[in-house]
Amino acid sequence: MKRFITFEGGEGSGKTTQIKLAADWLRERGIPALSTAEPGGTPLGRKIRELLLNRGSWTIGAEAELLLFAAARAQHVREIILPALEAGQWVLCDRFADATLAYQGFGRGLDAGFIRTLNAFSAQALKPEMTLLFDLPVEAGLARAKKRAAGGRPEAAEDRFEQEERAFHGRIREGYLSIAAAEPERFRIIDGAGSVETVHREVCRCLEALPQLPFLEGERA
Ligand code: TMP
Repeated sequence: MKRFITFEGGEGSGKTTQIKLAADWLRERGIPALSTAEPGGTPLGRKIRELLLNRGSWTIGAEAELLLFAAARAQHVREIILPALEAGQWVLCDRFADATLAYQGFGRGLDAGFIRTLNAFSAQALKPEMTLLFDLPVEAGLARAKKRAAGGRPEAAEDRFEQEERAFHGRIREGYLSIAAAEPERFRIIDGAGSVETVHREVCRCLEALPQLPFLEGERA
């Protein structure tokens, strides 16, 4: 059975920390779990990520931005995600198609119908079985992202998205919540404001609740 689980949320929502903890938690239970991220995940994806996050000085219009995310996803699905699923691995992905709908659709105002079509094309119609949405107020998330940027590592410097105005991030939060409300069977909304440990426990509860996990039966007993 394919196990494709995505982690979504706004800036500073804690999903990247949580995906690592979740992958370790699964591996400790003998489950082969691959943790990967968008944009990125492949050599081409990492190049596109550098272009998109643009800590340099070039202009990227909304349409070009959308197509670059789609290109990174197409390569990621073909090169990494589908082969890992075929090999029986669980794939945990830090952002996927919902991010494009939230950021380029709700955030930039591009046409949602076209984004859905493009998402399906670039993902070869692959959809996550479960999506964990880490939700927290925009101010709290941006404050976390700023703190990380102040840490001084060049790769943690504020990127092109983090520099956007507050209203942009507000639209993204509302967008994610409305995408989740439209597909309640796929989404689990997790309060991202809690401590790393509290949020991790909540993530584990979501993973444990997936059907057909015989390896966890013993633990539950
Ligand atoms: P990250 O912060 O999860 O590493 O993601 C990098 C940025 O890219 C983040 O600000 C969200 C943005 N993004 C989009 O705008 N559209 C997308 O489709 C994806 C995957 C990410």
